[in-house]
Order: sequence, then structure tokens, then C-alpha cells
Amino acid sequence: MSKRHRLPAAAPALAANAPPAEAAIGTLAGDVLRGLNATPRQLSSKYFYDARGSRLFERIMRLPAYYPTRVEARLLRRHARALLGALVPTAAPVELLELGSGDGRKTLALCRDWLKAGTSLSYRPMDISAQALERLGQRVARQLPALSVQPLCGDYFQTWPLPQARRHQVALFLGSNLGNFTDAEAHRFLRRVRAHLRAGDSLLLGLDLRKDPRTVLAAYDDPEGVTAAFNLNLLRRLNRELGMDFDLDGFRHYASYCPLQGVARSFLVSQRAQTVNSRVLGQSFPFGPGEVIYTEQSQKYERAGVDAMAVACGFAVHAWFEDPELPYALVACRAQA
Ligand code: AVJ
Repeated sequence: MSKRHRLPAAAPALAANAPPAEAAIGTLAGDVLRGLNATPRQLSSKYFYDARGSRLFERIMRLPAYYPTRVEARLLRRHARALLGALVPTAAPVELLELGSGDGRKTLALCRDWLKAGTSLSYRPMDISAQALERLGQRVARQLPALSVQPLCGDYFQTWPLPQARRHQVALFLGSNLGNFTDAEAHRFLRRVRAHLRAGDSLLLGLDLRKDPRTVLAAYDDPEGVTAAFNLNLLRRLNRELGMDFDLDGFRHYASYCPLQGVARSFLVSQRAQTVNSRVLGQSFPFGPGEVIYTEQSQKYERAGVDAMAVACGFAVHAWFEDPELPYALVACRAQA
């Protein structure tokens, strides 16, 4: 079989003989082409989550050093009832839209409590992974059959359901996923969320906060090497989907945390001079020893900055629930008129 025949179907964005330069922004081929030609080289963290990457991220969430998942789950359990009061006017029926629900594990505790409080609740998990939504449906059927679940598969803003007359929309964006965006991207994203809500509807954000730099750094540099495998998996994906020949032993995971900016960053560092080729992109990329690819940022927030960002995007912070031991916040926001 010729190499051409083994080109994976998973690179559909690029027509067979389209020049690489026309690979569109927002497609894997286009984004990688632009990112690897940028200075410094960069790849978007949104491409971490292929099947293997999603499994590795599930392992990260169980790592002792990766505190955000556990702390957020604890906050959701501890403050479930207070969150209902902060997000929803008394006795209003609720449509709960979870942006990037994954398998929805953390949210079910919240739903259980809200049902117990007598809320008329419709849960709309949104995710790009049909498989995660499928598992979520099975989990709900087993653990909370009273809950009405209607999953939405695809881009959040394309699948966002039209509001129903009396039903209050509450959007959830948890896991400090907002932190992967640059400041400008985060603002744009929150403004789009606001545009899909009515005044008085709500948004709940889970945000990791600034803390001892060593604690943050350890969360992105676990001794088990799971985060390293997660980061390197990006190169494995490019090898498969863009016909590249990254030597996975030729690059190493490097994590940093800057306490001035409150940003954790991950990189892949070339261990020697080497050239990487892509059949699909039709280009070679020379790497010097120590040259980095910037793969992820995770912003750590502070209260004043979150307040200002909310206001700039058409929200007001209505309530703030913070873990006393490890700084992490659930931020209840109201859409302003
Ligand atoms: C899911 C984006 C919030 O940035 O903390 C975990 C992803 N990367 N370890 C994060 C991640 C490395 C995670 N988010």
C-alpha cells in the first residue's frame, strides 16, 4: 500500500491537493501549520483531547497533585443549595446548560440537590464528544433517573437551545477551563455566552485562583509523568493525523508557573537539533536544541480581575464561593440588562 493510501481520514480539512497555505483557521491542519511557523512555535491545547488524550486527562484529574478537580467537586457538594439561591430566582424552573460536560460526574451531585429542593430541572450537557455524552446518559439513568437529560453534541454556540418562556437558563463552565484562553479569548468567549442568555439568566464559573507557586507548578509537573504523557500525546496525534514524524523521545515536557502573571505554561522542548516533516502539510520544521513548542496556558485568577472581566462581558458577580484550604472559586454571575 502506498503512503498516500495510509493518509488518515481524520485530516478532512485539507482537500487532497489544496495548497497547505489554504488550510483554514480552526482546522487541525491550518492551526498546526500556522502554530509551527510562529515564533515561538505553538500548538493549541484544544487539540489535546483525542480519545487517548481524554483518557490521560481523566487520569490527571485523579492525580494527588492535580487539586482543581477535587476542590471544585467539594465546593459543588458543599454549596449546592446556596448556589441554587444565587443562580435562580425562587421557584423558577431551570434549564442547566453545561458547557463541556464531559461525563458530567461532578454536576450530578448538584442536580440531585436541586431536585431535592423541588426545582423543576432540565439538564442539557453540551460536549463535542458524543462518547462522553453517551456515558453521561448511562450514568444519569443509573444514579439519578428522575433527572430529565437532553444532551447537545457539537459547538456550544451552534447547539445553544432557544430559551423557553419561563425557564431560567443557567450556564455552567467548570474545571477552570476558561483559564486555557488568553485574556482576549476569555473576554470574547464570555461575551458570546452573554449574548445567548437573557438578562437575569445566570452563569456559574469554576476558576482556579492564585496560590503558592509550588502548589500550582506541582499540579502541572506530576512525578507519575501523566501530564508529560498528556502533553506529548499532542505530537503523537500530529504524527497520526498530519502524517508527521515527531520522535516522541526527542521532546520533553516542561512546565512553568509565573506568579507575576498567575499563569502556568506547558511546553515541549526539543532535546537536540532535529527536523520534523509533515506529509499532509508538505513542510519540514527544523528544531534547534532547547527550542520549545508552547502548548498550554492555565490562568490562575484573583477576585478583582474576575469582577472586572465579568462586568466587561455583561455580567455581574452575584456570589463567590471559595475553598478555605486551597484557593479555588465557584463564581455565580448574573447576566445584566
Ligand atoms: C482542563 C484546561 C482546566 O489547564 O488545568 C491539566 C488541563 N493540562 N493538566 C488545566 C490540564 C494539564 C486543565 N483544564
